[in-house]
Amino acid sequence: MDRNLALEFVRITEAAALASARFMGRGDEKAADQAAVDAMRRAFDSVDIAGRVVIGEGERDEAPMLYIGEEVGKSQEGSLAVDIALDPLEGTTICAKGDVGAISVIAAAEKGHFLHAPDVYMDKVACGPRSAGAISIDSSPEENISRVSEALGKPVADITVVILDRSRHSELIQRVRKTGARIRLIGDGDVSAAIATCWEDSGIDLLLGIGGAPEGVITAAALKCMGGDFQGRLLFKNEEERERARKMGVEDMNRSYKRDDLARGSVLFCATGVTDGPLLRGVRTLPGQKAKTESVVMRSQTGTIRYVQAEHNFNIKKAVI
Ligand code: FBP
Repeated sequence: MDRNLALEFVRITEAAALASARFMGRGDEKAADQAAVDAMRRAFDSVDIAGRVVIGEGERDEAPMLYIGEEVGKSQEGSLAVDIALDPLEGTTICAKGDVGAISVIAAAEKGHFLHAPDVYMDKVACGPRSAGAISIDSSPEENISRVSEALGKPVADITVVILDRSRHSELIQRVRKTGARIRLIGDGDVSAAIATCWEDSGIDLLLGIGGAPEGVITAAALKCMGGDFQGRLLFKNEEERERARKMGVEDMNRSYKRDDLARGSVLFCATGVTDGPLLRGVRTLPGQKAKTESVVMRSQTGTIRYVQAEHNFNIKKAVI
């Protein structure tokens, strides 16, 4: 991935974050999401790529999302063909409640290098660099916890597993508790939670459970840049979802995907905070029609993790949001 694209992508997630942050705490998830989608789509128009959304939230009939299959970017002769995985507002409910950790996020890879799949669920396991190689989506939660504990040289009682607080996870939660490991239950936002496994002092060692497949591909890209590990398996509710997946080229519906099956080759990950969270500070409005944003951009090619703080002046840059 061209490093010059990194800053272009930051501008896109900044635009989506600035737009959705206007709806923070207003209780209107749809409006917040819509604002992020519209701003992201507009911002893509100024970037010289021939991008295609290969996994994201919603398909064409579910517009007005940035739908799977949508072409984004200037797409002129000579533009780089790029696969895009995105979530203009990861944590819609978080944003609507003014809660912790909503982000706007994009991952990019060369054409054909991201999993192309519908917006279904994915069973996931993620961990940081020190336990990379120790986890498997085909292993039980007990086995994954025990291997991570061994890899980190910490007793199981000191391992913290992050799990989305959903009724579908009640058995998983019971089993994890039985091992003696601790659990951090989160309301939303499994991309940030998985990224947290890569920071030694985040207090999170492992992510387990079912979340969105687009978030899974985005997470695989982020963890590839950070040296963490990720595996997942697509989950289908019905035959219609399977058929949609087949049409997008998924052949084996039960396949276990390793991190690099989901995000092959050189990838780029970029996120901007919408609301304050452990990963990034949210959008802060300043007097005089200004706002500050904080973003992170990473490339797997170099492993550089770059934080970008920006002050936006809407007296001058009115067109952005
Ligand atoms: P949104 O981008 O739709 O707000 O997703 C938030 C999220 O919590 C993701 O982080 C997670 O992967 C997914 O929703 C889980 O889906 P569900 O809310 O249906 O359990």
